[in-house]
Amino acid sequence: MKWTQKHLLGLEECSAEEITQVLDVAEGFRPVVGRNDGPRDDLRGKAVVNLFFEPSTRTRTSFELAERRLGATVVNFDVATSSVVKDETLRDTARNIEAMGGIDVVVMRHGCSGAPQLLARSINASVVNAGDGQHEHPTQGLLDILTIRQKLGRVAGLKVAIVGDIAHSRVARSNLWGLTKLGAEVWLVGPTTLVPKAFAKLGAKVSHDLDAVLPHMDVVNMLRVQTERLEEQPFPSVREYSRLFGLDRERLELTKPGVLIMHPGPINRGVEMTPEVADGPRSVILEQVTNGVAVRMAVLALVTGAR
Ligand code: CP
Repeated sequence: MKWTQKHLLGLEECSAEEITQVLDVAEGFRPVVGRNDGPRDDLRGKAVVNLFFEPSTRTRTSFELAERRLGATVVNFDVATSSVVKDETLRDTARNIEAMGGIDVVVMRHGCSGAPQLLARSINASVVNAGDGQHEHPTQGLLDILTIRQKLGRVAGLKVAIVGDIAHSRVARSNLWGLTKLGAEVWLVGPTTLVPKAFAKLGAKVSHDLDAVLPHMDVVNMLRVQTERLEEQPFPSVREYSRLFGLDRERLELTKPGVLIMHPGPINRGVEMTPEVADGPRSVILEQVTNGVAVRMAVLALVTGAR
């Protein structure tokens, strides 16, 4: 089945065929990402609103670049100076923006899991989830999978470790849905407090021993420790966490020669990985960022029917 969805709310709702289609369309856009040769016509006449209720560097900037490269009219909604600070609800905010007319897509990041689903039920425009609470970050999952497919030539049959704060991670959930649908084996690794055994029910392998898992992996995706989402201390100290679950040169020697080291950003350098690993030859972190623009161009083109 090819793309038929009006929204992109999560990879849980996408079929393997739809995910593959986004990757294929993104691959087609990849050559134009590095060129600044003026806007295309794909989204000419369409308006996209970027509604970010949480901070973002990569996602917000790459969505805006993608929208402008496709020729859309772009509106960046500034939450801090809006009537949201006067307690206007999300639904009222979005419906009022839409009432100004001609809004085709709303790209939203929100701290509450499920906020994009609520928005999709409240407005006529397409909704693209740019990260909701601890639920999903579908375009991050897609750009991670695109990077794996580009670098290793396939996804099916690969072993992918996602390491760190799985419990609070929307990136982990989107990667898990997307990678398992495409036939990869996903290992979730971290302290018992941050990697609930319940994830095994979603098709993942769960481990609390990074050194035992590393030699078997084709890809190691290191997640950020999200101190802002931690309600209680899940490990004795950051130093302890880093000693058991951080990647440094010594631990990298346990991996296969062609392993890919990934991170969605922002990196806590010295916690999830040392600068030498983050900037080293196995790291594809900046290629993930470049692919983010191509993936977001593909998603915008598909939800609007331009592709
Ligand atoms: N990976 C990611 O979502 O980064 P930002 O928070 O900077 O958008």
